[in-house]
Amino acid sequence: MDKYKWCCCLTCALLCTVALLCVCLATLLSQPCSSANSFRHAAVAADSLLCSQVGRRVLQQGGTAVDGAIAALLCTAVVFPQSMGIGGGSVVTVRNKTGKVTVYNFRETVPQKFKSNLLDDCPDSFKHTPGSQWIGVPGELRGYEALHKQYGRLPWSKLFEEPVRLAREGVPVPPHLGKILSMPSVKSRVQHSSLCQVFCKSNSSLLKTGDIMKFPQLAESMQIIAENGADAFYTGQIALDLVHDIQAAGGTLDMDDLRSYKVRVMDAWTVPLGETLMHIPPPPAGGVLLAFILKIMQGFSFTPHSLDEDQKIQFYHHYIEAVKFANGLRRNICDPFFNSHTGADLLMDPAFIDHIRTMISPNGTNPPSYYSDVRAPPDHTGTSQVSVLDKDGLAVSATSTINHLFGGGVYSPRTGIILNNELADFCGRANTLNPGEQPPSSMTPAILEYKSGRLLVIGGAGGSMITTAVALSVINHLWLGMSLKEAIDAPIVFVDSKNKVNFPPGFDQSVIDGLRALGHEVGQMEYFFNVVNAVEKEDRCIVAESDARKKGMADGY
Ligand SMILES: *[C@@H]1O[C@H](CO)[C@@H](O)[C@H](O)[C@H]1NC(C)=O
Ligand SMILES: *[C@@H]1O[C@H](CO)[C@@H](O)[C@H](O)[C@H]1NC(C)=O
Ligand SMILES: *[C@@H]1O[C@H](CO)[C@@H](O)[C@H](O)[C@H]1NC(C)=O
Repeated sequence: MDKYKWCCCLTCALLCTVALLCVCLATLLSQPCSSANSFRHAAVAADSLLCSQVGRRVLQQGGTAVDGAIAALLCTAVVFPQSMGIGGGSVVTVRNKTGKVTVYNFRETVPQKFKSNLLDDCPDSFKHTPGSQWIGVPGELRGYEALHKQYGRLPWSKLFEEPVRLAREGVPVPPHLGKILSMPSVKSRVQHSSLCQVFCKSNSSLLKTGDIMKFPQLAESMQIIAENGADAFYTGQIALDLVHDIQAAGGTLDMDDLRSYKVRVMDAWTVPLGETLMHIPPPPAGGVLLAFILKIMQGFSFTPHSLDEDQKIQFYHHYIEAVKFANGLRRNICDPFFNSHTGADLLMDPAFIDHIRTMISPNGTNPPSYYSDVRAPPDHTGTSQVSVLDKDGLAVSATSTINHLFGGGVYSPRTGIILNNELADFCGRANTLNPGEQPPSSMTPAILEYKSGRLLVIGGAGGSMITTAVALSVINHLWLGMSLKEAIDAPIVFVDSKNKVNFPPGFDQSVIDGLRALGHEVGQMEYFFNVVNAVEKEDRCIVAESDARKKGMADGY
């Protein structure tokens, strides 16, 4: 009898415990991913909240991360037309559910006919490079088409719905673009070019932040492409209209160039950073420079204490020295299809990296020739980044651009498309060009895979600032103990092509003084256009961060 009672008690206790556990587990599982920018299923980090939302709605309607990324990119072409658009090109890194990482490179290429002495027109400093001679063959829509074919789930036309509506009905000029339009150099350029048709008011004063900008012609073109596919752009009436307008502006691009454009699909390069694997796009994209800087920094074993008062100057000094070497070696990044001896392999060689690390002294910096005996290329700004992770684990990191702000300033009135000036990316980095060749790029959409299997989808915008912006975000997050948001928000240091070190307003003055004392020359750069957008799968939530510098905001569900 006693034994029976005892048994009963035990069973009761056991049942209670199980019930309690169940309740606990249920509470835990139902707990929303409640902190800001933390989502349960999927997330999009684009340059603007508007476009992150467009991407999120596509995901919620059953779209994949690729569907979401394409919709967010098309939206960004409307919201930030100075950065990217269907007249440009992109590099996209995709990781499928089972871990295969593939790069879709659809950057612009050199047309069959191009100005013979084009590189003589290169500016020798940080300058906008306008004109139709710099237009490369746009790859954007062929790229979306290839990605959608392989990974898309929603119909192609569905991805265009919201972006077309935004282009037609108009969107308020975002503060970031408003600021750009008020810069004196941009202002006069826009006022004296065909861009004025969309960015000027009737009295030819420029649109301001909050004014409604509309793109009726672009909406028309996008609608036709939504209905008829990318062929409408590459072989149809849009192609004829685009070529007409480019040639009217003095450019050489023709129907054959558009018709023969091909997307390049290749395996990503994988670089170990300790136990984390980083997947990057191969040359001529900029992944190798990012990896080079990170590998050098990894060897110095920085920790969260590296930003302590007595160590921070040395942290930045070592970082700047690594970037000076990356600058000096940039010429090694070129299109492997057209250059048999690219030095990109060297930059990834562990022995070479170890050697470079020994050349960095805590005692001070060195003259430019120390870092390379080749001229570094001029800097520029532009570009846009979208990072997406969907509920099935498909990850997409897309960097897209028309190169400089508003490309080369050539607007096609018949199609509403702003043309890229991508061929300016050859400046300082090549002596000759070949038809079909892709210029080297700083773009580096990356996917990091932690030992635990968790993912970080990251990439940046800002032309030459991309490498430093992404590198510092990764260093801050991986090694200095910052959250993803802190890592992206932290001020960057930009080492320009003359090896001058530029600091954004408000940067720690004691560090600047300390770096001067080590011999670094401080530059006077006024505008910083670096933007990093990232999505990270944590234990049960997906954290997404868009850069506050472009007033971006991520979205998810
Ligand atoms: C991922 O890609 C690899 C290689 O193409 C393929 O074998 C695998 O089936 C893909 N996984 C999924 C889930 O599509
Ligand atoms: C143009 O019109 C806007 C209002 O639409 C006004 O604020 C601006 O001063 C005008 N500019 C010139 C140059 O007349
Ligand atoms: C730095 O300076 C110290 C003291 O002058 C010297 O002993 C050391 O070798 C120097 N280190 C390097 C790497 O040049």
